[in-house]
Amino acid sequence: MEENIKNKVVIITGASSGLGLATALLLAKYGAKVVLAARRRERLEKLAQTIKNQGGEALVMVADVAVRSDVEHIVRETLNAYSRIDVLINNAGIMPQAPLEKLKVEEWDRMIDTNIKGVLYGIAAVLPTMQQQHSGHIINLSSVAGLRVAAGRGTVYSGTKFAVKAISEGLRMEVAKDNIRVTTLYPGAVESELKYGSSDPEASANIQAFYKEYEIPADSVARAIAYAIGEPEEVAINEITLRPTKQEF
Ligand SMILES: NC(=O)c1ccc[n+]([C@@H]2O[C@H](COP(=O)([O-])OP(=O)(O)OC[C@H]3O[C@@H](n4cnc5c(N)ncnc54)[C@H](OP(=O)(O)O)[C@@H]3O)[C@@H](O)[C@H]2O)c1
Repeated sequence: MEENIKNKVVIITGASSGLGLATALLLAKYGAKVVLAARRRERLEKLAQTIKNQGGEALVMVADVAVRSDVEHIVRETLNAYSRIDVLINNAGIMPQAPLEKLKVEEWDRMIDTNIKGVLYGIAAVLPTMQQQHSGHIINLSSVAGLRVAAGRGTVYSGTKFAVKAISEGLRMEVAKDNIRVTTLYPGAVESELKYGSSDPEASANIQAFYKEYEIPADSVARAIAYAIGEPEEVAINEITLRPTKQEF
């Protein structure tokens, strides 16, 4: 596995926390050149320093994935540095959950902009390069809430993650001819900052109680991503669902 990760140029959005951070650390340990993107510069610089101290290679890109030009900037700078892109991990995402009747329309907009448009901007930014290379790998973070509707408080979040599932599957079918791999991940409750995103006190308390009972370490997702990248080029791991063993939903 490690030999198929070593030296790969991997862009990770949402690398400043949670799943993205754990994935960056693991892939860098396996010798990938990781490009760390998110909005919080200090967090990214601290992570890049940790990776460098461990003998790895990392670039920091401050970017908002909801802004198309920011995402294009990440890709341009990555190409300037390495002249290729092997993997894009569309991981940045938010989960400000609340019942629909609370009408948190601005949070719906932010979820759509980050979780759906951010993924599409990432795909748009790397696709020409990967088609030209005739190789590449796009990894999208959906959720178990992208397989079943998290009704009650997570309907819009589920909507965005169902969209990621549809976009990933359509992308996979379209780019198979270009030798580009597509992987979609459907994680259950994983330890990160995601659970603090709700502005609705009741929903927030319920989510945090749920995570407290079930969450598994972010490293579990990092290992699944490393597995998908580490397979030989002719093998595409298209979908991975992973949950805490005791989580039913
Ligand atoms: N944790 C779970 O239980 C779970 C389960 C299923 C799926 N997921 C998915 O996994 C992904 C990662 O989430 P996480 O659990 O690791 O949450 P997290 O700890 O809150 O991390 C989210 C990351 O996304 C970044 N981000 C948010 N909005 C952004 C924007 N507009 N532009 C750029 N970066 C942005 C954040 O960095 P900045 O704030 O610095 O920008 C942060 O690095 C998400 O797509 C989430 O939906 C998580």
